[in-house]
Amino acid sequence: MDISFFSNDYTVRRMEKADVADIYLLCSKNGLYYQYCPPFVTEQSILDDMKALPPNKEICDKYYVGYYKEEELIAVMDFIMAYPDEKTAFIGFFMTAASIQNAGIGSSIIDDLCRYLADIRLSSIRLGWVKGNPQAEHFWHKNNFKETGITYDTDNYTVVVAQRVL
Ligand SMILES: CC(C)(COP(=O)(O)OP(=O)(O)OC[C@H]1O[C@@H](n2cnc3c(N)ncnc32)[C@H](O)[C@@H]1OP(=O)(O)O)[C@@H](O)C(=O)NCCC(=O)NCCS
Repeated sequence: MDISFFSNDYTVRRMEKADVADIYLLCSKNGLYYQYCPPFVTEQSILDDMKALPPNKEICDKYYVGYYKEEELIAVMDFIMAYPDEKTAFIGFFMTAASIQNAGIGSSIIDDLCRYLADIRLSSIRLGWVKGNPQAEHFWHKNNFKETGITYDTDNYTVVVAQRVL
Protein backbone atom coordinates (compact mmCIF):
# COMPACT_ATOMS: atom_id res chain seq x y z
CA MET A 1 0.00 0.00 0.00
CA ASP A 2 1.31 3.40 -0.97
CA ILE A 3 -0.87 6.31 0.09
CA SER A 4 0.78 8.62 -2.43
CA PHE A 5 -1.36 6.76 -5.02
CA PHE A 6 -4.62 7.54 -3.18
CA SER A 7 -5.17 10.70 -5.21
CA ASN A 8 -4.23 12.02 -8.64
CA ASP A 9 -4.95 15.63 -7.70
CA TYR A 10 -3.92 16.07 -4.08
CA THR A 11 -0.96 15.31 -1.86
CA VAL A 12 -1.89 12.64 0.66
CA ARG A 13 0.06 12.20 3.86
CA ARG A 14 -0.36 10.58 7.26
CA MET A 15 -1.66 12.92 9.94
CA GLU A 16 0.24 13.33 13.18
CA LYS A 17 -0.26 14.98 16.53
CA ALA A 18 1.09 18.25 15.10
CA ASP A 19 -1.80 18.29 12.59
CA VAL A 20 -4.58 18.11 15.17
CA ALA A 21 -5.29 21.85 15.22
CA ASP A 22 -5.75 21.91 11.42
CA ILE A 23 -7.96 18.81 11.52
CA TYR A 24 -10.05 20.39 14.28
CA LEU A 25 -10.58 23.53 12.18
CA LEU A 26 -11.77 21.40 9.24
CA CYS A 27 -14.06 19.21 11.36
CA SER A 28 -15.55 21.94 13.50
CA LYS A 29 -17.07 23.61 10.43
CA ASN A 30 -19.07 20.46 9.62
CA GLY A 31 -21.79 20.93 12.24
CA LEU A 32 -24.39 18.80 10.44
CA TYR A 33 -22.21 15.70 10.75
CA TYR A 34 -21.96 16.05 14.54
CA GLN A 35 -25.69 16.68 14.89
CA TYR A 36 -26.16 13.12 13.62
CA CYS A 37 -22.96 11.70 15.10
CA PRO A 38 -22.49 13.34 18.51
CA PRO A 39 -20.54 14.36 20.52
CA PHE A 40 -19.08 17.39 18.77
CA VAL A 41 -15.43 17.05 17.78
CA THR A 42 -12.60 18.05 20.14
CA GLU A 43 -8.83 17.94 19.72
CA GLN A 44 -8.83 14.98 22.14
CA SER A 45 -11.45 13.05 20.12
CA ILE A 46 -9.26 13.52 17.01
CA LEU A 47 -6.21 12.17 18.88
CA ASP A 48 -8.31 9.20 20.02
CA ASP A 49 -9.58 8.57 16.47
CA MET A 50 -6.00 8.62 15.17
CA LYS A 51 -5.35 5.51 17.27
CA ALA A 52 -8.76 3.81 17.16
CA LEU A 53 -8.93 0.37 15.51
CA PRO A 54 -11.73 -2.01 14.61
CA PRO A 55 -11.75 -5.39 16.39
CA ASN A 56 -8.77 -7.66 15.62
CA LYS A 57 -6.93 -5.04 13.55
CA GLU A 58 -3.35 -3.82 14.04
CA ILE A 59 -2.09 -0.25 13.74
CA CYS A 60 -0.06 -1.23 10.64
CA ASP A 61 -3.31 -1.47 8.67
CA LYS A 62 -4.53 1.98 9.71
CA TYR A 63 -3.97 5.13 7.65
CA TYR A 64 -5.33 8.34 9.15
CA VAL A 65 -4.54 10.67 6.26
CA GLY A 66 -4.93 14.25 5.11
CA TYR A 67 -5.45 15.47 1.55
CA TYR A 68 -3.64 18.70 0.70
CA LYS A 69 -4.18 21.18 -2.09
CA GLU A 70 -0.79 22.84 -1.96
CA GLU A 71 -0.54 23.77 1.75
CA GLU A 72 -4.27 23.64 2.49
CA LEU A 73 -5.82 20.64 4.23
CA ILE A 74 -8.97 19.91 2.23
CA ALA A 75 -9.99 16.44 3.42
CA VAL A 76 -9.35 13.88 6.14
CA MET A 77 -9.82 10.12 5.91
CA ASP A 78 -9.49 7.27 8.37
CA PHE A 79 -8.70 4.27 6.17
CA ILE A 80 -8.34 0.67 7.33
CA MET A 81 -6.78 -1.91 5.04
CA ALA A 82 -8.22 -5.45 4.86
CA TYR A 83 -11.27 -5.06 7.07
CA PRO A 84 -13.58 -6.85 7.66
CA ASP A 85 -11.83 -9.33 5.32
CA GLU A 86 -8.60 -9.44 3.27
CA LYS A 87 -10.23 -8.19 0.06
CA THR A 88 -12.16 -5.30 1.62
CA ALA A 89 -10.98 -1.84 2.67
CA PHE A 90 -12.84 0.20 5.26
CA ILE A 91 -13.37 3.97 5.53
CA GLY A 92 -13.92 4.82 9.19
CA PHE A 93 -14.26 8.55 8.58
CA PHE A 94 -14.21 10.88 5.61
CA MET A 95 -14.72 14.64 5.71
CA THR A 96 -14.00 17.48 3.31
CA ALA A 97 -13.43 21.14 4.23
CA ALA A 98 -16.75 23.00 4.24
CA SER A 99 -15.16 25.71 2.07
CA ILE A 100 -14.68 23.33 -0.89
CA GLN A 101 -17.83 21.21 -0.58
CA ASN A 102 -20.42 20.58 -3.29
CA ALA A 103 -17.86 21.00 -6.08
CA GLY A 104 -17.31 17.29 -6.77
CA ILE A 105 -14.02 17.11 -4.85
CA GLY A 106 -15.21 14.50 -2.33
CA SER A 107 -16.45 12.28 -5.16
CA SER A 108 -13.22 12.63 -7.13
CA ILE A 109 -11.22 11.65 -4.01
CA ILE A 110 -13.37 8.53 -3.57
CA ASP A 111 -13.13 7.66 -7.29
CA ASP A 112 -9.33 7.91 -7.27
CA LEU A 113 -9.14 5.80 -4.12
CA CYS A 114 -11.41 3.12 -5.61
CA ARG A 115 -9.31 3.01 -8.78
CA TYR A 116 -6.12 2.50 -6.78
CA LEU A 117 -7.67 -0.17 -4.56
CA ALA A 118 -8.93 -2.05 -7.63
CA ASP A 119 -5.39 -1.85 -9.10
CA ILE A 120 -3.98 -3.52 -6.00
CA ARG A 121 -6.67 -6.22 -6.29
CA LEU A 122 -9.07 -5.33 -3.52
CA SER A 123 -12.64 -6.25 -4.34
CA SER A 124 -14.76 -3.88 -2.25
CA ILE A 125 -14.81 -0.89 0.04
CA ARG A 126 -17.07 -0.61 3.04
CA LEU A 127 -18.20 2.13 5.42
CA GLY A 128 -21.08 3.28 7.56
CA TRP A 129 -23.15 6.43 7.85
CA VAL A 130 -25.51 7.59 10.53
CA LYS A 131 -29.06 6.73 9.57
CA GLY A 132 -30.96 9.86 8.61
CA ASN A 133 -27.93 12.07 7.82
CA PRO A 134 -29.10 13.41 4.43
CA GLN A 135 -25.69 14.74 3.34
CA ALA A 136 -23.82 11.51 4.06
CA GLU A 137 -26.54 9.27 2.59
CA HIS A 138 -26.78 11.32 -0.60
CA PHE A 139 -23.01 11.47 -1.01
CA TRP A 140 -22.39 7.73 -0.58
CA HIS A 141 -25.33 6.75 -2.79
CA LYS A 142 -24.04 9.15 -5.45
CA ASN A 143 -20.68 7.38 -5.16
CA ASN A 144 -22.22 3.94 -5.77
CA PHE A 145 -22.24 2.65 -2.22
CA LYS A 146 -25.17 0.32 -1.56
CA GLU A 147 -26.64 -0.69 1.77
CA THR A 148 -25.49 -4.16 2.84
CA GLY A 149 -28.60 -4.65 4.96
CA ILE A 150 -26.43 -4.55 8.09
CA THR A 151 -27.16 -1.83 10.64
CA TYR A 152 -26.02 -1.45 14.21
CA ASP A 153 -27.22 0.68 17.07
CA THR A 154 -25.14 2.86 19.36
CA ASP A 155 -26.59 4.74 22.34
CA ASN A 156 -27.22 7.85 20.22
CA TYR A 157 -27.75 6.69 16.63
CA THR A 158 -28.03 3.84 14.15
CA VAL A 159 -25.23 3.13 11.66
CA VAL A 160 -26.10 1.94 8.14
CA VAL A 161 -23.33 -0.25 6.67
CA ALA A 162 -22.77 0.17 2.92
CA GLN A 163 -20.35 -1.20 0.36
CA ARG A 164 -19.06 -0.44 -3.15
CA VAL A 165 -17.80 -3.21 -5.37
CA LEU A 166 -14.50 -2.23 -7.01
C1 LIG B 1 -20.16 14.14 2.52
C2 LIG B 1 -18.96 15.01 2.07
C3 LIG B 1 -17.66 14.21 2.30
C4 LIG B 1 -19.11 15.32 0.59
O1 LIG B 1 -17.98 16.06 0.15
P1 LIG B 1 -18.08 17.03 -1.14
O2 LIG B 1 -16.69 17.46 -1.47
O3 LIG B 1 -19.11 18.07 -0.93
O4 LIG B 1 -18.61 15.98 -2.23
P2 LIG B 1 -19.28 16.20 -3.67
O5 LIG B 1 -19.23 17.63 -4.06
O6 LIG B 1 -18.63 15.19 -4.56
O7 LIG B 1 -20.79 15.72 -3.44
C5 LIG B 1 -21.62 16.33 -2.50
C6 LIG B 1 -23.05 15.89 -2.72
O8 LIG B 1 -23.76 16.00 -1.48
C7 LIG B 1 -24.95 16.76 -1.69
N1 LIG B 1 -25.30 17.42 -0.44
C8 LIG B 1 -24.61 18.37 0.22
N2 LIG B 1 -25.27 18.74 1.33
C9 LIG B 1 -26.39 17.98 1.37
C10 LIG B 1 -27.48 17.88 2.29
N3 LIG B 1 -27.55 18.64 3.40
N4 LIG B 1 -28.46 16.99 2.03
C11 LIG B 1 -28.42 16.21 0.92
N5 LIG B 1 -27.40 16.25 0.02
C12 LIG B 1 -26.42 17.13 0.25
C13 LIG B 1 -24.56 17.70 -2.79
O9 LIG B 1 -25.72 18.23 -3.42
C14 LIG B 1 -23.77 16.77 -3.72
O10 LIG B 1 -24.61 15.91 -4.47
P3 LIG B 1 -25.02 16.25 -6.02
O11 LIG B 1 -23.75 16.32 -6.80
O12 LIG B 1 -25.89 15.08 -6.40
O13 LIG B 1 -25.74 17.56 -5.99
C15 LIG B 1 -18.90 16.36 2.84
O14 LIG B 1 -20.16 16.98 2.73
C16 LIG B 1 -18.57 16.19 4.29
O15 LIG B 1 -17.40 16.13 4.65
N6 LIG B 1 -19.61 16.12 5.17
C17 LIG B 1 -19.40 15.96 6.58
C18 LIG B 1 -18.79 14.61 6.91
C19 LIG B 1 -19.60 13.48 6.36
O16 LIG B 1 -20.83 13.45 6.39
N7 LIG B 1 -18.88 12.46 5.88
C20 LIG B 1 -19.46 11.27 5.30
C21 LIG B 1 -20.07 10.39 6.30
S1 LIG B 1 -18.88 9.29 7.01
